[in-house]
Amino acid sequence: MATTTPLVLILLTLIPFLTLAQKAPAPAPSGPINITGIFDQGSQYTFLIRLLNETQQLTQIQSQLNSTSQGFTIFAPTDNAFQNLPSGTINNLSDDKKVQLILYHVTPKYYSLSDFQTVSNPVRTQASDKSGPWGLYFTSQGNQVNVSSGVVTEPINNALRQKFPLAVYQLDKVLLPTELFGPKAPASSPAPKSSKTPSKTPTPSSAAVEGDAPAPASSNKDDSAAGRNDGFGFVVGFGLICMAILT
Ligand SMILES: *[C@@H]1O[C@H](CO)[C@@H](O)[C@H](O)[C@H]1NC(C)=O
Ligand SMILES: *[C@@H]1O[C@H](CO)[C@@H](O)[C@H](O)[C@H]1NC(C)=O
Ligand SMILES: *[C@@H]1O[C@H](CO)[C@@H](O)[C@H](O)[C@H]1NC(C)=O
Ligand SMILES: *[C@@H]1O[C@H](CO)[C@@H](O)[C@H](O)[C@H]1NC(C)=O
Ligand SMILES: *[C@@H]1O[C@H](CO)[C@@H](O)[C@H](O)[C@H]1NC(C)=O
Repeated sequence: MATTTPLVLILLTLIPFLTLAQKAPAPAPSGPINITGIFDQGSQYTFLIRLLNETQQLTQIQSQLNSTSQGFTIFAPTDNAFQNLPSGTINNLSDDKKVQLILYHVTPKYYSLSDFQTVSNPVRTQASDKSGPWGLYFTSQGNQVNVSSGVVTEPINNALRQKFPLAVYQLDKVLLPTELFGPKAPASSPAPKSSKTPSKTPTPSSAAVEGDAPAPASSNKDDSAAGRNDGFGFVVGFGLICMAILT
């Protein structure tokens, strides 16, 4: 008796702590996605983060992640990828073209790796000009997926994040858009060999870009700012449509 009572007391006093300890790791509210945090894992994306930051894309994408119904996919060239470019490739670009280059690495839709195996080409990116959105081309063989700009083709090997609404894939090369780096004479850009996926012949100027988001045609009135504001326009436009339906 004399020995069991203290033991019971100890157990009783421990109970609140035990239950607390169990409750502590309980469902943490999924806060905002920390995009720089995703890149921080390898700390080999300093160049990309700098460009995303300089071109305001970091805050733009971040602010849209909450409201997007489509999600986003970011292709993330490593620092090595940028360093392997001929010197001046990026720095020689005007600020507008730098923005375009970065927007070309973002699609206004979430794609898992397996989505790329069945996606129809070209896939719409956030970059665009007067003739429409710029596209990326995907080919696959088994589980191996290649992404191509027409100028650059490379395999997608590493997903840094693959969870709606944001997918991030590491790339070992920068996706140089045909619109900025392609041969002046059109139609001679190397066509990514299609294996089994239904890929149309790449015609980058074609506006027939995959994506069932609200019609791009209506949001392309403002050419100069089109690239930057496309995504935002979609979100706002979509919101307005929803409000219109609800009222
Ligand atoms: C996005 O949602 C998270 C919670 O899910 C919230 O903490 C955050 O403030 C929201 N951000 C914006 C820009 O609305
Ligand atoms: C995001 O993650 C980075 C690196 O892990 C950290 O420095 C930064 O403070 C985080 N930002 C937010 C808003 O949590
Ligand atoms: C983004 O740039 C601003 C200055 O323009 C700087 O204060 C901030 O630390 C930068 N953020 C990142 C994540 O590089
Ligand atoms: C960048 O511009 C400099 C000076 O005009 C030029 O010498 C260099 O070849 C250019 N580099 C590229 C990659 O276009
Ligand atoms: C992907 O690209 C590599 C070369 O980078 C090539 O060997 C391979 O056949 C390509 N695969 C597909 C499915 O296009």
